[in-house]
Amino acid sequence: MGAAAKILDIPTAEVFEPLLYPARYKGAHGGRGSGKSHFFAEMLIEDHIRHPSMRSVCIREVQKSLKESAKRLLEDKIQKLGVTMLFDAQADRIITPGNGVIIFQGMQDHTAESIKSLEGFRRAWVEEAQTLSARSLELLRPTLREEDSELWFSWNPRTKNDPVDRMFRAGDEPQGAVCVESNWNNNPWFPSVLERERQDCKAKDPDRYTHIWEGDYVTVVDGAYFASHLNDARRDGRITRLHKDPLQSIRLFWDIGGTGAKADACSIWVAQFVGQDVKVIDYYEAQGQPLEAHLAWLRGNGYGPDKASCWLPHDGATHDRVYAVSYESALRSSGYDVTVVPNQGRGAAMQRVEAVRRLFPRCWIDSEKCDAGLSALGWYHEKKDEARGIGLGPDHDWSSHGADAFGLMAIVYKEPTGKIKRDIKFTGWGG
Ligand SMILES: Nc1ncnc2c1ncn2[C@@H]1O[C@H](COP(=O)(O)OP(=O)(O)O)[C@@H](O)[C@H]1O
Ligand SMILES: [Mg+2]
Repeated sequence: MGAAAKILDIPTAEVFEPLLYPARYKGAHGGRGSGKSHFFAEMLIEDHIRHPSMRSVCIREVQKSLKESAKRLLEDKIQKLGVTMLFDAQADRIITPGNGVIIFQGMQDHTAESIKSLEGFRRAWVEEAQTLSARSLELLRPTLREEDSELWFSWNPRTKNDPVDRMFRAGDEPQGAVCVESNWNNNPWFPSVLERERQDCKAKDPDRYTHIWEGDYVTVVDGAYFASHLNDARRDGRITRLHKDPLQSIRLFWDIGGTGAKADACSIWVAQFVGQDVKVIDYYEAQGQPLEAHLAWLRGNGYGPDKASCWLPHDGATHDRVYAVSYESALRSSGYDVTVVPNQGRGAAMQRVEAVRRLFPRCWIDSEKCDAGLSALGWYHEKKDEARGIGLGPDHDWSSHGADAFGLMAIVYKEPTGKIKRDIKFTGWGG
């Protein structure tokens, strides 16, 4: 045996086993303390020993300083694994066997030009990947183009709509993607200090516990307008499977996205007003699809013009108005009865929020068909000016279309008066 021969012994948590084989995209998501960072750090060092002269980049969406990077963790691992003679930790990088390198960067510092500097890199490890923007992901993926290059992602999921979740967990992951979920109970080295933190969190902050420690999507967002209303509805069993009532009319409440990048974003809530209750039986949203796609969905699900009527918002901005008018006429010519709800003017968004809050105790919502809409309602939140600590009104993000359409329903809803109108059709007197 040669003097340099040495076996690197890296005990690894079983949960990460699927990630040990070559794959284009590797993901590990889960709650705090599950060993994600330690696992990828060890695998990166192992890969640099296996493949001399390889170059890698450790990435975050935002990296204000190296302290935020995985550099320190990697250095500790190099020590622990007893391979310090193979690596040279410098101020801003780690030199690896065969004059390879590991560097540390923030995606927000990159442009479409500068990202090209990473083209020869074989590994990119994105930490806290839940914050990775769609732009960053689009820049990064084609940049790593070496044969056998791999992109790694570790994250604690926030919402289904985060780009990394869409990529790995929406059911249409790219070829060569392998993903595992890991939580504290999968970590054989879960330290006792973290166990105490976990217990405290479970006892004192149960609303956030499942996100922080069990890796579930966020259900409670700071400043979320409808958080407590959704919680109440869940607790009361009003978020459950519902059936369409064949005798009741079907009401479709629309929000049509504006211009630019959000063009053609469309959300529709499908509801039936049954006595005192609002039964929300379905939800639809689409990005960048033509009106015909929305109509096809409606018809395919039994909400065609023979059964359903539409409510559209009357939007303020001129270009949106043109947009809305074209929807209105297109829906009418498809046979729908259309009501355009006048704009409530200044403060319209907050009026809708208040109307939703008033309506919510009457709402029953289908837990499966409305899943995406429920996420939007749970996420819709106030934008904060962090420096001045003041609220800036609703944050206009992916959730605002769904929330606005729901708000339209709440504005339109009229409390039943207790009287009903009976239209009796007849054909001539007597007979
Ligand atoms: N492979 C490992 N070897 C030794 N300790 C580990 C290992 N993996 C995890 N740990 C321990 O578990 C803790 C949490 O792991 P970490 O990778 O930071 O979790 P996560 O990134 O999922 O939050 C670490 O601080 C460390 O104490
Ligand atoms: Mg981590």
